[in-house]
Amino acid sequence: MRTPPPAVVRTIQRLGAALQRAAGALQPPQARFLEVSGGVAAVLLLRAALETRLVEPLAGRRATAGEVAGELGLHADTVHRVLRGLAVYGVTRLGRDGRFALTRVGELLLEGHPHSMAGWIRYVTSDANLAGWRRLPESLRDGRPAFNAATGRSIWEHLAEHPEEEAGFARTMRELTLLSAPFIVAAYPWPAAGTVCDVGGGTGAMLAEVLRARPALDGVLVDQAGPLASAGEYLASRGVAGRARTVEGDLFAGFDAEADLYLLKDVLHDWDDDQCRAILASVRAAAPAGARVLVLEWLQEPNVASFPVSVSDLMMLAQTEGRQRSPAELQALGAAAGFAPGRVIDTGVYGIVELVAAG
Ligand SMILES: C[S@@+](CC[C@H](N)C(=O)[O-])C[C@H]1O[C@@H](n2cnc3c(N)ncnc32)[C@H](O)[C@@H]1O
Repeated sequence: MRTPPPAVVRTIQRLGAALQRAAGALQPPQARFLEVSGGVAAVLLLRAALETRLVEPLAGRRATAGEVAGELGLHADTVHRVLRGLAVYGVTRLGRDGRFALTRVGELLLEGHPHSMAGWIRYVTSDANLAGWRRLPESLRDGRPAFNAATGRSIWEHLAEHPEEEAGFARTMRELTLLSAPFIVAAYPWPAAGTVCDVGGGTGAMLAEVLRARPALDGVLVDQAGPLASAGEYLASRGVAGRARTVEGDLFAGFDAEADLYLLKDVLHDWDDDQCRAILASVRAAAPAGARVLVLEWLQEPNVASFPVSVSDLMMLAQTEGRQRSPAELQALGAAAGFAPGRVIDTGVYGIVELVAAG
């Protein structure tokens, strides 16, 4: 996939935000609250649609609610109201003849779609995710991570105890990573040869795209047993299994993987500063002098509110012990673990903060 240059991506983002601000200025402020509260309806409609496979009969065809309901054994009138509601959010299109079709957005709810977002919606609406969000008022009082306080364990312990959810989460991360990977691959001057190690790399989505871009690079994928269980199959499906090995390892206890380049994609944002220093120390212990670490995350400057970064920061608050950080904050964490600052690259979609293992 050809990716637009970062400047174009940023211009599109700024234009979108400016248009939204302009539209907001034209309406009474109360209307904004009605709009925002519709978000609950939108996301729970999507959840209901997935649980009932509601949009599957609309794959590649227009159909009435009666036809959809007949195929799925659902209640026709309710199907009509829900599909009509989904049209408000741009998921379906409702014709004057009463037939529904999927929009480009709606097609991403289809289970078999190569860029399906079904997993993401399932995750966002999962009991585990909502448990953290519900506890936010208490987090505001005591600053403790919401999910841990609500459930008595970390999201990672929760996922390890629920293998089906863990597999769903790993799949979802892969779907999300495949969206940003082309931008990251295009923006960084990857070495032609050597070894790249993806730490906390899930099922290997980012690693696979890097290896595909550099046929002489070898790869190591470090993660826990759960995500690694399906990594071999995934790496094979991307044609890079022969150049990638998997290592079951722990971010804190350490892992044995010598490489020229380490990736930490959406890993540090899951952890607090002390934990990040410990993770970076684990990487430093594995890394030879001169090796580089690429921290791949959305970058959050303390005094800039922007979508999706500041919302992702809140998701980290609700779900994990972490947060989105600025390049300076990431470099300070790196310095404490023996890394000098390197390049900072804004891909327009993701940030790349390079750290260099001091000699
Ligand atoms: C948010 S996901 C990011 C996955 C992948 N880097 C990506 O961007 O698609 C965080 C990853 O950290 C892994 N992880 C969490 N705790 C870990 C630990 N203690 N040791 C090793 N991996 C861990 C999870 O299994 C998960 O794959």
